[in-house]
Amino acid sequence: MIQTEEFKNQTVLITGASAGIGAAAAHAFGNRGAYVIVHYNSRREAAEQVVAGIAAAGGNGETVQADLGTQAGVRSLVDWLRDRPVDILVNNAGSLVRRTRVLEFTPELMEQVMTLNFTSAFFVAQAVLRGMVERKRGTSINVSSVAARMGGGIGALAYAAAKAAMSAMTKNLAREFGPAGIRVNTVSPGTIDTDFHRNFSTEQMLNNVKAATPLGRLGTSEEAADAIVYLCTDGARFIQGQALEVNGGFLMV
Ligand SMILES: NC(=O)c1ccc[n+]([C@@H]2O[C@H](COP(=O)([O-])OP(=O)(O)OC[C@H]3O[C@@H](n4cnc5c(N)ncnc54)[C@H](OP(=O)(O)O)[C@@H]3O)[C@@H](O)[C@H]2O)c1
Repeated sequence: MIQTEEFKNQTVLITGASAGIGAAAAHAFGNRGAYVIVHYNSRREAAEQVVAGIAAAGGNGETVQADLGTQAGVRSLVDWLRDRPVDILVNNAGSLVRRTRVLEFTPELMEQVMTLNFTSAFFVAQAVLRGMVERKRGTSINVSSVAARMGGGIGALAYAAAKAAMSAMTKNLAREFGPAGIRVNTVSPGTIDTDFHRNFSTEQMLNNVKAATPLGRLGTSEEAADAIVYLCTDGARFIQGQALEVNGGFLMV
């Protein structure tokens, strides 16, 4: 059920919203009255189910497909966004793609990981920022990672570097667009229990994280989504260029 009308008449674009954190954020914004654009890459049915869930709760939204690991895919989303005003952008799509050690890394894989986890977010932000400046309002969240500060696990160098670039981008955009009334912040999840880890982590790795986490467990997609939504609310109106760490105390900075 629609809980509040906090985001009524606002359109939110969430990249990578067919699963995990992005899907939870889509439901959370939908429940607060936003029109939700659910972007996906490979899981069309899952994305359509997210929109159906939002509609069943009394909200509204649509899906859009683009492979943000390729420049052609980024261009297709940027073109699709032309003349579509977006009030809130959540740059959430991301993946390790393949856990690959340094000596095995190829230029093609580096390009794909950086495009998906950083460059695409820049160009999608660029596409929506023009309209935000004209309307003198807008909010953007970049989903980074604890890996941005810690350097990433073995095989995740490019992913961690891309996420660090994402965090730096937040600060630069916050500086340039703050005077236009646009807020930009980072949400930096620790280990959140999603398909991401079913694809890229072993049970041993996850048990080690739990043991090193003061709250003694992994996070949920909803907990990461709550942080994203909070930073877009009026309650966060003086928060600009910051990173909100959502990791149960695993890393305190
Ligand atoms: N889970 C964690 O512990 C954790 C920790 C730190 C940061 N993060 C970050 O949080 C974000 C969400 O992660 P998650 O855990 O929710 O992952 P997830 O459940 O694996 O979902 C990833 C989302 O990204 C989309 N995506 C993947 N590759 C894509 C591509 N080439 N082009 C466009 N979209 C693509 C997926 O779309 P399709 O399924 O439709 O292909 C899906 O919607 C990511 O940026 C991730 O790096 C996650």
